[in-house]
Amino acid sequence: MKILVTGGAGFIGSTLVDRLLERGDQVSAVDNFSTRRREFLAGALKHSGFRLAEADLLTGEIPAGLMQGCDLVVHLSANADVRFGTERPARDFEQNTTVTFRVLEAMRKNGVKRIAFSSTGSVYGEPSVFPTPEDAPFPVQTSLYGASKVACESLIQAYCEGFGFQGYIFRFVSILGERYTHGHVCDFYKKLRADPSRLRVLGDGRQRKSYLYVQDCVSAMLCALDHALDRVNIFNLGTDEHCEVNDSVRWICERLGARPALEYSGGKRGWVGDSPFIFLDCSKIRAMGWRPTLTIREGIEKTLDYLVKNPFVMERD
Ligand SMILES: NC(=O)c1ccc[n+]([C@@H]2O[C@H](COP(=O)([O-])OP(=O)(O)OC[C@H]3O[C@@H](n4cnc5c(N)ncnc54)[C@H](O)[C@@H]3O)[C@@H](O)[C@H]2O)c1
Repeated sequence: MKILVTGGAGFIGSTLVDRLLERGDQVSAVDNFSTRRREFLAGALKHSGFRLAEADLLTGEIPAGLMQGCDLVVHLSANADVRFGTERPARDFEQNTTVTFRVLEAMRKNGVKRIAFSSTGSVYGEPSVFPTPEDAPFPVQTSLYGASKVACESLIQAYCEGFGFQGYIFRFVSILGERYTHGHVCDFYKKLRADPSRLRVLGDGRQRKSYLYVQDCVSAMLCALDHALDRVNIFNLGTDEHCEVNDSVRWICERLGARPALEYSGGKRGWVGDSPFIFLDCSKIRAMGWRPTLTIREGIEKTLDYLVKNPFVMERD
């Protein structure tokens, strides 16, 4: 297959690119390198089946030739950080919603009709049903990030209806693993490197979260793309477990041999839009034969080991 990956230099994008190349697809990636991690594509760039274009999807055009003849666009480029929405309210709207519209329009103009999209469990806001299934209502959006992703999902669905597209919408829990560049494991490790005697935790540490290992996430996406045939295919992607932030703190400290004094910012939420409990019902993707290979604890430990061996990932922020 000929596949275009937007955000292909990112954490999940570059992992997907490598996996697609491994299985013999022709892969193009477009990225503006705003997260500045060219190293992630070092392996792909040696591959004859890979093409890379540096372009800003908000202001520029997808280079001619990259989209033409594509069987599938996997649209991953975004502002992927849920935390700072209220500080820069335009960013989620522009980088997520506007860019998704521009990608859909480029696809329409080039006759490409199959799109896979990285949404988020944040679209559920603070749900009342746990584990939360794909058909749970999302009455109230609690973050600008989640709101922007709901808008993206709606646009994709409307293009499926209006222009005969086929859409795959993946609502991820937090993803971790090799090439992880943002999120709580990075934050805690950075803080402990700077001062191992204390660790500030956002919220009361009792927030319950779900995490999924990046290779399991990519396997789940590929499984759905191979087996799901509806016009609009929506999947929660996560594990069948959750943990407290305090569990994660304990596992990270044990792995690093650190014994910091813990300081909590307090409250049930770590920041505006933080969900105190995320736990998605993933039985739909499991029914297609997919299973995660790592537990949450194993995923967190693998991520930490990667950061310890690859400090360049944190040094650029
Ligand atoms: N990592 C997670 O825990 C998580 C959870 C839920 C959803 N997601 C979604 O998955 C997708 C990938 O996330 P990630 O963690 O790999 O993030 P990432 O920041 O590592 O990757 C995003 C990539 O998109 C590129 N990009 C951003 N804006 C661009 C633009 N205007 N033009 C071209 N390229 C642009 C960045 O340079 C980066 O390489 C995102 O859509 C994110 O919202 C991620």
